[in-house]
Amino acid sequence: MIKRIKVTELKTGMYIELPKAWRAHPFLRNNFTITSQKQIDKIIEYGILEVNINEKKGITAPVMFTREEQPEKDFSENIVPEKLKEVIQDKKMAPEPKAQAVHLHSINMIGKLWENPSGENIAQFKKGIVDVVDLILADDATSDHLLKLTSHDYNTYIHSVNVGVYGVSLAKAILAKEDKHDMHALGAGFFLHDVGKVYIDEAIINKPGKLTEDEMTLMRRHPSMGFKLLTETKQINDECRLIVLQHHERHDGTGYPRKMRGEDIHIYGRICSVADVFDALVSERPYKKRLNPFEALKLMRDEMLDHFHKEVFEKFVLLFK
Ligand SMILES: [Fe+2]
Repeated sequence: MIKRIKVTELKTGMYIELPKAWRAHPFLRNNFTITSQKQIDKIIEYGILEVNINEKKGITAPVMFTREEQPEKDFSENIVPEKLKEVIQDKKMAPEPKAQAVHLHSINMIGKLWENPSGENIAQFKKGIVDVVDLILADDATSDHLLKLTSHDYNTYIHSVNVGVYGVSLAKAILAKEDKHDMHALGAGFFLHDVGKVYIDEAIINKPGKLTEDEMTLMRRHPSMGFKLLTETKQINDECRLIVLQHHERHDGTGYPRKMRGEDIHIYGRICSVADVFDALVSERPYKKRLNPFEALKLMRDEMLDHFHKEVFEKFVLLFK
């Protein structure tokens, strides 16, 4: 039986069938049994996200739904909640409830996109994000509340929206005066920075404890996988895709996936890395207590400053004054 699985589910002993017409891989044959983790790493390195395995010729995949087998969902519904635009355009709504509503509808929008991150859905998502970005750029009172109320529960959707809000706010402080930046595409990049996690097993993403080394290795692939997804769907421009690829790079070269250093990391990636770490620190996880924003910024300054571009970090601190 041929089964399509995510590359992250590949194990040694599985018999893999790569597309016959496909030449962009380093293996002698298209069909073979996986005998080492190195081969799996190679497949991922060549940008393949899903593969066919032949379960008659090798070990079977664990019983779990692949994306194709999941119960049909109605994707005809627009990714962008009707209410999001309504709330943003409501001139009478006070800044605080407006911020709360925009936050909630944005989380809903990310959740829908995660279920099916197709090119068409990413295109719709981008349209929804345009309104959120314009709100943050033009309405200081609401964007101030957005910064303060970002939820401190943690799941990937909430985290994506929080980093989106922090990222756009920081880009507004650093870049908005320069004409050359496409703030809408930039916003989409921040909100989608973790989109590669759609390919990582949910059991790893939601694990209520620290990850093992092997799990960390899988998790560290999400920047490259997200970058690949956005490249294939052609919905986010080259520079903004770098946010997804570089948001775990660190100024001192200790990040991943490429151990880039200093200003080799694109300014968009540098902005996202500060926003991402901050949100991780202020969020409650089963294995760690959350810090308040002041404690988080202090920890970043005292113990992690080498990870960040100094001026970007300083501008970030000013957002919370
Ligand atoms: Fe990430």
